[in-house]
Amino acid sequence: MLSYQHIYHAGNLPDIHKHAALAVILTRMMAKDKPFTYMETHAGRGLYDLSSKEAAKTGEFRTGIEALLREHKIPPSHPYARAVAKVREKHGPQSYPGSPAIARELLRFHDRMQLMELHPQEHAALSAHMSAPNIKIHKRDGYEGALALSPPVPRRGMLLIDPSYEVKTEYAQAAEFVRAILKKWPEVTILLWYPVLTAGLHTVLTDTLAQANLPGFWQQEVLFTEASGLRLRGSGLIGINLPFGAEPGLEEVRGWFV
Ligand SMILES: C[S@@+](CC[C@H](N)C(=O)[O-])C[C@H]1O[C@@H](n2cnc3c(N)ncnc32)[C@H](O)[C@@H]1O
Repeated sequence: MLSYQHIYHAGNLPDIHKHAALAVILTRMMAKDKPFTYMETHAGRGLYDLSSKEAAKTGEFRTGIEALLREHKIPPSHPYARAVAKVREKHGPQSYPGSPAIARELLRFHDRMQLMELHPQEHAALSAHMSAPNIKIHKRDGYEGALALSPPVPRRGMLLIDPSYEVKTEYAQAAEFVRAILKKWPEVTILLWYPVLTAGLHTVLTDTLAQANLPGFWQQEVLFTEASGLRLRGSGLIGINLPFGAEPGLEEVRGWFV
């Protein structure tokens, strides 16, 4: 089932939480000159138009990126803010970068990207927007593709797991996938996003991973008020093998949401 389309949610509060954390982690990884691989299981289309009728329909970006920028919650010098600004310089003030575009703004020419996206339209848009010699785009299942490509060259790397959780069983599937990928690529830095839901469906994922003795397990949840207009209660992130020095930056990001 591929009915989820990220354009309805681009630039909302959970997107900012995830994208800012991604920018913090990538920046810390680049403290070392050594090249690395950046991989995504669920890449989306890479670039979103917030003036589109789909984005307007939910209006989620209004309580997201629009509100946080207006309220000066995001320091302009933050790597996330700089990536958004660079994309907007190129594509206009109503554009918003997806995670692959945030990563591309931050990575160096010797780093590699491996992006998985299964939806034909999203894959086509991603391919059109993200073509470059160091970027490989795959139209395949992100879980299967990431396992098949691991460990990549270079082995040093990061994996973003950002499923759409369209079916209830995907919470258990994502937890199982984290354990499987760590067997093939033990040193990978992982950032996994999940929705914090009133019904608690996400706890299958979070409890399994919290109890799995994973290396350097890290977790952060931010909760939203009703005024956010979002149906989910909050946004959650799990990190594994985070680079040295990332945690203070991730704690700073949490402060944008209180
Ligand atoms: C939450 S969106 C990704 C957003 C993106 N990571 C970002 O932050 O800009 C999830 C994406 O996963 C895609 N998708 C759903 N199931 C998939 C699967 N099994 N393998 C790869 N992509 C999938 C959807 O088409 C959708 O574009």
